[in-house]
Amino acid sequence: MNKQQAKERIEKLKEEVNHHRYLYHVMDRQEISDAALDSLKNELFKLEQEYPDLITPDSPTQRVAGEALAKFIKVEHDQPMLSLNDAFSRQDMEDWEGRIKRIMPEVEFNYYCELKMDGLAMSLIYQDGSFLRGATRGDGRVGEDVTQNLKTIEAIPLRLREPESAELKNIGLSEQSIGKILAQVRNGLIELRGEAIITLETFRRLNEKYQKEGKPLLANPRNAAAGSIRQLDPQVAAERKLDFHVYAIMTDFGLDNHEQEHKLAELLGFKVLKQNKFCNNLDEAIAFHDYWEKHKKGVPFEFDGVVVLVNDTKLWPTLGVVGKAPRYAMAFKFAAEQVTTKLNDIIWQIGRTGILTPTAVLEPVRVGGVTVSRATLHNMDEIERLHLRIGDTVILERAGDVIPKIIQVLPGLRTGQERTVEVPKVCPVCESAVVRVEGEVAFRCTNRQCYAANLRSLSHWTSKVAMDIPGLGPKIVEQLVREGLVRDPADFYSLTVDDLLPLERFAQKSAENTIASIKEKKKIPLSRLFVALGIRHVGEETAVLLAKQFAVFDGQFSIIDLIEKFNNTTLEELQSLPDVGPIVGKSIYDWFHAGHNIDLLKKLDKHGLKFIAQQPGIGSEKQKLEGKTFVLTGTLEGLTRDEAKAKIRELGGKISSSVSKKTDYVIAGAEAGSKLDEAQRLGVKIINEEEFGKMIE
Ligand code: IVH
Repeated sequence: MNKQQAKERIEKLKEEVNHHRYLYHVMDRQEISDAALDSLKNELFKLEQEYPDLITPDSPTQRVAGEALAKFIKVEHDQPMLSLNDAFSRQDMEDWEGRIKRIMPEVEFNYYCELKMDGLAMSLIYQDGSFLRGATRGDGRVGEDVTQNLKTIEAIPLRLREPESAELKNIGLSEQSIGKILAQVRNGLIELRGEAIITLETFRRLNEKYQKEGKPLLANPRNAAAGSIRQLDPQVAAERKLDFHVYAIMTDFGLDNHEQEHKLAELLGFKVLKQNKFCNNLDEAIAFHDYWEKHKKGVPFEFDGVVVLVNDTKLWPTLGVVGKAPRYAMAFKFAAEQVTTKLNDIIWQIGRTGILTPTAVLEPVRVGGVTVSRATLHNMDEIERLHLRIGDTVILERAGDVIPKIIQVLPGLRTGQERTVEVPKVCPVCESAVVRVEGEVAFRCTNRQCYAANLRSLSHWTSKVAMDIPGLGPKIVEQLVREGLVRDPADFYSLTVDDLLPLERFAQKSAENTIASIKEKKKIPLSRLFVALGIRHVGEETAVLLAKQFAVFDGQFSIIDLIEKFNNTTLEELQSLPDVGPIVGKSIYDWFHAGHNIDLLKKLDKHGLKFIAQQPGIGSEKQKLEGKTFVLTGTLEGLTRDEAKAKIRELGGKISSSVSKKTDYVIAGAEAGSKLDEAQRLGVKIINEEEFGKMIE
């Protein structure tokens, strides 16, 4: 091969390698294997070695070339590299739109929305189609020449791709723009800007490697990217495998809008973000932000918000720049995933196996888009590892949908009033002794039944027969207990939508509905409280009877009124109530005279629970079944047993569990059993579901 032939072959090889780079990095397509591509590069390398004067700076062999630098050279940007103003809420975005609308009231703005990558801004300059220089942002006016390092990034073409006229037409460019572009790709300067990043996968692999080699680990992908851009030795930069996406074309080709800049950048051989989207109005832009805040996980790199730009670039000069930030764009940031707050207390949860788990009670703060007031601390070791004291200022993290976590204490902010944390000596639920599990960090309540009993009583509280709160079934209650959100019944009433959202089975709507139900059920018939409290020997019947005796007023009254009424009732008075007797009376009396029960009642009062004397019913109907006693047997079809019972009580009737001469009616459903036989034997009136239905109509 003579020199002329070598030159031709070298040109062809460069084009071919560049074409496959474009297919792979920009179009996500691979037409030949990595090995085949390596073989082409190798042939090119050998030819260039033979004819060194044929090596050009834009050859694919020149990605990792040159000696380590002593220092970077400063370069002045032709146009300043601006930064963006931040918005944190819909309101901030509406205020921004308000401002630009005041400047241009006649314009209907539409927007181009992009993911705001967490990397480093770069300016790339191409001369006659070849990569000439790449620079960092620096102070916006003067940056540093990092060309050598940027050349190691495969996503950056060393030669611009020459688009076809038809391709440019397809993306809506005018003849004039097309002419300018084609001329300038061949002959002239073109500047583009974009973000150099490290993907999460590369970051993970690098750290794995550094760990093996005993080298210090990289703190996060952004730092990793910054570190490699600032490497004086391009060999090291190459190893870091940076990625690059263009977000602006600075050269004026007379384009109409920002979206076209992205399409053009792609045709010139660059990667642009696939997620970016044209939005007709601000609502759509906000929806874009909300969508990507929720779907961060599916994106292979870190981004901390979205950039919203006025799409029509012709409006930009009028909107102008204030300070260092343009008025035509905003960075709409995602909710911070780390905040500082105060640790107000530590409470101890009882787990399924009786293990005590500390839960941090925090000054409520918004983090990762929700308000957090609790965080699990796992065990005493965690508390010791963090050197945590009650009263400390702490850093709280909630990344994605992960449970909030205290990650650090700020001891510099201590006042001296902080308290050290101690494991309780007795179980906060059942007051049994607490012991350390041998050989483990855990502490355990010695009463094996404790957790289950607590869970049962909390599930009973929300159940249909008691407070009847839809959406708080046993499974959800167990989650709430495990997350440390609920310890006693009063805690149900301080739950918020934000508390429920991170839990399994909850979405915005269901969380809102559940919170609304809890609120609605704060005003409730008194009998339901007596059932919910789970006082020994007090079933639904006794609860109804007690409610009649203890309704303080005809209308609405509070728990404090009720406590007072119980304080004024003697044991004898309770025991002599009809259908109560000595054992049940004593149980009720004891319950209302135990300090921790009164504390619970007072806590419930603080949440605004109010009671009404009667089961809600409609006027005269209420007394329709007055004085009648019913027994239910078998399966009803149209309504559940609980519903039938509730209806009977509502209409003034009573329910008994066994048939006697005093029974007025036995309601017999399908597969009725011995109670039906007993009714027949005693001559008690037996009715079916249909007849009962007529009775209560
Ligand atoms: S557009 C006037 N688009 O965010 C600047 N910037 O605070 C217009 N950034 O330093 C920038 N991803 O490096 C734009 N998709 C994106 C971006 C993006 C990240 C960075 C950029 C700039 C900073 C602005």
